[in-house]
Amino acid sequence: ELVSSRKILKDAVKGNYAIAAFNVHNMETLKAVIKGAVEMDTPVIIQTSQSTVKYAGIEYLVALVGTAAKLSSVPVVLHLDHCTDWELAKKCIDAGYTSIMVDGSMLSYEENVALVKKAVEYAHLRDVTVEAELGRVAGVEDDLSVEEEKSLYTDPDLAVDFVEKTGVDSLAIAIGTAHGVYKGEPKLDYERLSAIRRKVDVPLVLHGASCVPDESIIKAVELGINKINIATELKMPFADAIKRVFKEKPQEDDPRKYFTPAMDAVTEVVKHKIGLCSSAGKA
Ligand code: 13P
Ligand code: ZN
Ligand code: NA
Repeated sequence: ELVSSRKILKDAVKGNYAIAAFNVHNMETLKAVIKGAVEMDTPVIIQTSQSTVKYAGIEYLVALVGTAAKLSSVPVVLHLDHCTDWELAKKCIDAGYTSIMVDGSMLSYEENVALVKKAVEYAHLRDVTVEAELGRVAGVEDDLSVEEEKSLYTDPDLAVDFVEKTGVDSLAIAIGTAHGVYKGEPKLDYERLSAIRRKVDVPLVLHGASCVPDESIIKAVELGINKINIATELKMPFADAIKRVFKEKPQEDDPRKYFTPAMDAVTEVVKHKIGLCSSAGKA
């Protein structure tokens, strides 16, 4: 069933676990993620960046994920990730997305508040949930890039003000993760996470969760993260498996032969990440 993220994230706050959210790009990655979620019996968030929306088309993505949701035994959310283009966000809502993130992290605080307020008003009338970011997560996420020096950790007191003023459904926070891979080992600011968790009651979102050590994800979930975002760690094994096929068999031309191992590799990562979130069996 296709759902908004309202109930599944509320349940995650209550139960002190997280829902894993995976960025997909095509039917193959979508089916591989859904398979992992079904095998783990967990709600799952399927997300597409705005550049994936441009690549695949809104109608295709809504149809694909709608079909996946209808055919699967677990709740499925179709979420628009990191949207900086309000017109595009509206189109996605109108076309059937059930959740959106409006990314105002590059705007001033007041502009971010205004953008999120506007999004919440529009989305809530249509039973769609809204995620927003306070602070700024470093790294490269598709067409959006933030240099490390320009990243900003989330201020716990400002988070209270932000949630009150915007009525946002879930809050992405910056506590030391970055989009993509890490040079060294990422150091998460657990104290900041705990402080934010004490002060606000909305679900908290951890972006850039690829390549964060398992123990750090587990600890972040224990301390109050309710959604973890994984993109890079699906893209890499998917591509690696395809490269392996072509290395062994350069003449291979059957998509079913070169995509199947790639899909299996994605499903394996998906199940592992869901395990770290403690959401298995919560569907
Ligand atoms: P990673 O690419 O590090 O997994 O980040 C994903 C993300 O935050 C998507 O919004
Ligand atoms: Zn992100
Ligand atoms: Na990352």
